[in-house]
Amino acid sequence: MLDTVLLWISRNEKRWLGDLKNWLSIPSVSAQPDHATDILAAADWAKDYLRTIGMDVEVIPTKRHPCIVATTPPKLCAPNAPHILIYGHYDVQPAEPLDLWESPPFEPTVRDGHLFARGASDDKGQVHCHLAALLAWKEINEGFPCRITVLLEGEEEIGSPNLMDVVRAKEDLLKSAQVLIISDTNQFAEGVPAITYGLRGLAYFEIKLTGANSDLHSGMYGGAVVNPAHVLASVLAQLHDSHGRVTVPGFYDDVEPLTERQRAESRALPFTEAQFAADLGLTLEGLQGEEGFTSLERKSARPTLEVHGLSSGYQGPGAKTVLPCEASVKFSCRLVPNQNPQRISALVEKYVRSLVPAGVSLEFHSHGTGNPAAITPLESPAMVAAAEAIELGFGQKPVFTREGGSIPVVGWFKEALNLDTVMVGFGLPNDRIHAPNENLDLYCYYAGIRTAAALYQKLADHLQ
Ligand code: BES
Ligand code: MN
Ligand code: MN
Repeated sequence: MLDTVLLWISRNEKRWLGDLKNWLSIPSVSAQPDHATDILAAADWAKDYLRTIGMDVEVIPTKRHPCIVATTPPKLCAPNAPHILIYGHYDVQPAEPLDLWESPPFEPTVRDGHLFARGASDDKGQVHCHLAALLAWKEINEGFPCRITVLLEGEEEIGSPNLMDVVRAKEDLLKSAQVLIISDTNQFAEGVPAITYGLRGLAYFEIKLTGANSDLHSGMYGGAVVNPAHVLASVLAQLHDSHGRVTVPGFYDDVEPLTERQRAESRALPFTEAQFAADLGLTLEGLQGEEGFTSLERKSARPTLEVHGLSSGYQGPGAKTVLPCEASVKFSCRLVPNQNPQRISALVEKYVRSLVPAGVSLEFHSHGTGNPAAITPLESPAMVAAAEAIELGFGQKPVFTREGGSIPVVGWFKEALNLDTVMVGFGLPNDRIHAPNENLDLYCYYAGIRTAAALYQKLADHLQ
């Protein structure tokens, strides 16, 4: 039956693409309040699509953007079939800066075998690989090899603040799943599909320093009055040492050293430092980080602290001689397994407070609760199933990678439901997710649909 489903998928490529373009036309930007109705429209689109597939669908409101929970009715599943949970997100990052897009972000456009649109790769395109695969199974077989629950959220890009409320409300259903499947990551490279077995966690901070009660003329006051911009620069400069290590006391206490097996896995990947630098328009000197680790290890298996945005003083055209009274910064730590986000937040706050001299006041804010890192054991039956499915979908065996990004649900589901995640991502590292001209390689899109369709069969075979 799987062969027929795969054939059906190939015959209907134009149709899947048309459906995905419709979904991508809805600007479901979770961070921007102006897009609240678009978020609802994108949720509705998914609800209708899942109903067409024959699933029982609920749109579950939250304090902000709704979740969708869909499940296959028993009459459409093989008896005693394993229960799998598929998670994805239908919200997208803001599209700004708009002038850098070659075609508008919410007018999906195909150029050179790539589909350009915000969300094409992260994550609507990858979610749609599953929706199309489910639809193909329904049309060809009138049913599914597994019992399948689909959970789609609209707040992933803002840190999933309300997801766990929905999970608690649906706990009985969700905890009966045997594995969590996510397609929201990347292949290792073009022609090198991957299963991601680990992600980093995240703790996000914002601080604001305030000096005098107003901005001041820098000629009248400069040299005599504290400048929060200088203080901020000094604080930030002290957060790393000359070996590229984060200086926050206790930061590395709980970090498990990489095992020889993990280092070997990483060395076996087709990767060179020179090519990595060249792809980013850098020389080797532009690759910086913690001493003693390769770039691959630094960006996926080691904890970091990184600044995202700095602001203080005059930013407009021309010169303005001002002594600013405020300075602020957004920064975050990527976390690795065994580091606790709350503990790291407390350590970072304590250290930052110790670095700020008397004479400026500090406001310290943690964005959200943070989320822990997660690792999935390589030896599970679901991993074997996923590897076989990728080989069918892409015609190539996958490599096993860890990635540096975060998907909050992965760590939380491990904590709350003891559920392991298999991440089968169809993106490529140069899809420009979160950036202008985000796109999805159409070969990967169709291979992704085939992989998803094969995965349901393979999981049914291996999880019995
Ligand atoms: N899909 C990404 C995460 C990702 C990207 C994992 C590439 C692996 C490779 C996800 O949508 C994302 O952007 N996550 C955010 C986290 C969040 C809490 C805002 C991230 O990693 O910054
Ligand atoms: Mn994503
Ligand atoms: Mn994202």
